[in-house]
Amino acid sequence: MGFLRRPQCGYSSDPAIVSDGECPVSEPMVIQSHKGPYDIHFADDALEALDAAVPDQTHFLIDRRVAELYGPSIHNILSSPSVLLVQATEDNKTLDRFGAYVQHLVDRGVRRDQMLIAIGGGILQDITAFLAATLLRGVAWRFLPTTLVAQADSCIGSKCAVNAGASRDILGAFTPPQRIDLSTRFLRTLDDRDLRSGVGEMLKIHAIDGPQTFDMLAETYDGVFTDAGVMKATIRRSLAIKKDYVERDEFDCGPRNLFNYGHSFGYAIEFATGFAVPHGIAVSIGMDMANWVAARLGVGSEAHYERMHPILKANYRGFDTRPVPHGRFLYALSRDKKNIGVGSVTLILPDRDGRMGRDSYPNDGVLADLCRAYLDTVLPSQDP
Ligand SMILES: NC(=O)c1ccc[n+]([C@@H]2O[C@H](COP(=O)([O-])OP(=O)(O)OC[C@H]3O[C@@H](n4cnc5c(N)ncnc54)[C@H](O)[C@@H]3O)[C@@H](O)[C@H]2O)c1
Ligand SMILES: [Zn+2]
Repeated sequence: MGFLRRPQCGYSSDPAIVSDGECPVSEPMVIQSHKGPYDIHFADDALEALDAAVPDQTHFLIDRRVAELYGPSIHNILSSPSVLLVQATEDNKTLDRFGAYVQHLVDRGVRRDQMLIAIGGGILQDITAFLAATLLRGVAWRFLPTTLVAQADSCIGSKCAVNAGASRDILGAFTPPQRIDLSTRFLRTLDDRDLRSGVGEMLKIHAIDGPQTFDMLAETYDGVFTDAGVMKATIRRSLAIKKDYVERDEFDCGPRNLFNYGHSFGYAIEFATGFAVPHGIAVSIGMDMANWVAARLGVGSEAHYERMHPILKANYRGFDTRPVPHGRFLYALSRDKKNIGVGSVTLILPDRDGRMGRDSYPNDGVLADLCRAYLDTVLPSQDP
């Protein structure tokens, strides 16, 4: 696998425009939402273009690390009248931090006809979109996603969520941005763990589209890390697949639920390890576990587990040796907010054709034993 060859050679120059089969990767993509359509513009110079023409009446919310890394490219943005730098931590998307964010914006004269612009990953997205949904009962926002999770997955679909008390992502809204400007140049500076976290979400989206689509990404897995053209095409394909679901089910009442594939087990891994495993990497373990459990419950098949296992394992490698305490894992699974009813767990599992389906399963000894067996036998070096 080519992780170590990753960004330096992969993103050092702009590749020729490639196609994902349907559409050149530089064409804008239009997403329909309950607030009307919004566009994703694919442009490597998105940041520089924004800095060259900073719009008036705009409030910037910027990931502090991104501001430090890209300072010279955003001199005008950083000198504009309203700039809030936020360190991308879970604590900073907790409700009690929002008083300070609101005060910052009010002190700079925020009005309903003005614009918030987020530059950062999922944390800056959640903070800005939650403010946009609630401030003055609604302010428009734009987004320059800087992580792979945000570029390939979270930037579309309208969701935002913030933490309150000890509950993660418990308060939220559906509030799409007015526009997304997507530059894969940002990925050059992303840590390997955050890059692989994004690849985990792309693997999830490709698996939801079907076994052939997943296998296509599996075949070009190394290229995603080493070839900017492959990365761009894979991001675009991920967004195109997700677009179809969010346009049919923006409020997540039906088919969009499949996007929770890998997330129930993944969240339990995150919780049990004290969030030491990045989200999309925990989701990679969660998908592997879902496939393994599905085969043993008679829902799926061993063949689909075996087919996907090598790539999922490659994506979570290095994080599979962290101890996952069984008790904490099972507690988190039983408390998952996606569960419906008492005494059952709602899971997205692959069927015998490798197609995802959603169902409730008794939260009993059978499921608990399967979870323990996976953690003990498939993940190495587990010490419950
Ligand atoms: N609203 C949604 O639909 C949605 C979906 C998925 C995740 N999320 C939320 O998003 C958060 C995770 O977001 P994420 O994975 O995008 O990452 P993040 O925002 O947590 O950022 C991860 C790290 O990367 C750094 N970073 C960001 N861009 C960088 C760049 N270009 N170069 C170098 N470093 C950079 C950040 O400073 C941070 O240290 C979680 O809070 C999760 O709950 C929201
Ligand atoms: Zn996710």
